[in-house]
Amino acid sequence: MISDMGVMGIPKQGPVVAIDGPAGTGKSSVTKRLAASLGFVHIDTGALYRAVALIAMEQNSGKLDSEKAEIVARKAHLEFKRMEEKNPANRILANGRDITDFIRTPEISMAASRVSAFPGVRSALLGLQRRLGCAGRAILEGRDIGTVIFPDADVKFFLVASVDERAKRRLAELEGAGADAPSFEEVRKQMIERDHGDSTRAVAPLKKADDAVELDTTTMTLDEVVRSMENLIRQRLSL
Ligand code: DC
Repeated sequence: MISDMGVMGIPKQGPVVAIDGPAGTGKSSVTKRLAASLGFVHIDTGALYRAVALIAMEQNSGKLDSEKAEIVARKAHLEFKRMEEKNPANRILANGRDITDFIRTPEISMAASRVSAFPGVRSALLGLQRRLGCAGRAILEGRDIGTVIFPDADVKFFLVASVDERAKRRLAELEGAGADAPSFEEVRKQMIERDHGDSTRAVAPLKKADDAVELDTTTMTLDEVVRSMENLIRQRLSL
């Protein structure tokens, strides 16, 4: 068993895999599949920022305010729960309320990106992400997992894909969820805006860790991406 003192003194009880990259590169689908096949826990850190954005807006008549958002990030009890009968099975609860079905709208995507640039929110969510991952046998997906949350992750990936392909995937996801889908151009525009915000913010911007393996998923199928990542993880962790 791997057990070393990680950053902030929380010991890692087992292996941690970090998957970072911009929206639409396939992080969530890939992480879900990898976690199932390796028997690891899947931690979707973007869902935490989305949860904070949703609650902060609900409490402030739809407006975002950095101080109020930080209070939400510090005080709200956020947890992931597996509910096999629900789709998706990995649900996120805020103060006991299942908010999974409300955090994937284009509006909350943009709000989560804004909230994630507030330094107070980032530091409030850092300990939680670290604690969740330190239990070990965990795969965390996000923007700063390999650089800030788990610089000591055992395996790190950075996924990329062309903006057109990413917008196509996000549109299919929105249509699949039965949402009132915006146009391709609108999704593409929002994606560029969100990428820009996520990679230029002052604190923990989206960037590849020096020791991360970069994978361009533009022309790869989900199966191909999962297979190549799983092979590398098994090899590195001797699984
Ligand atoms: O992965 P996602 O699209 O659900 O993430 C929503 C937003 O949260 C994204 O625009 C950037 C932010 N985020 C972040 O800053 N750091 C993370 N580790 C995960 C997400």
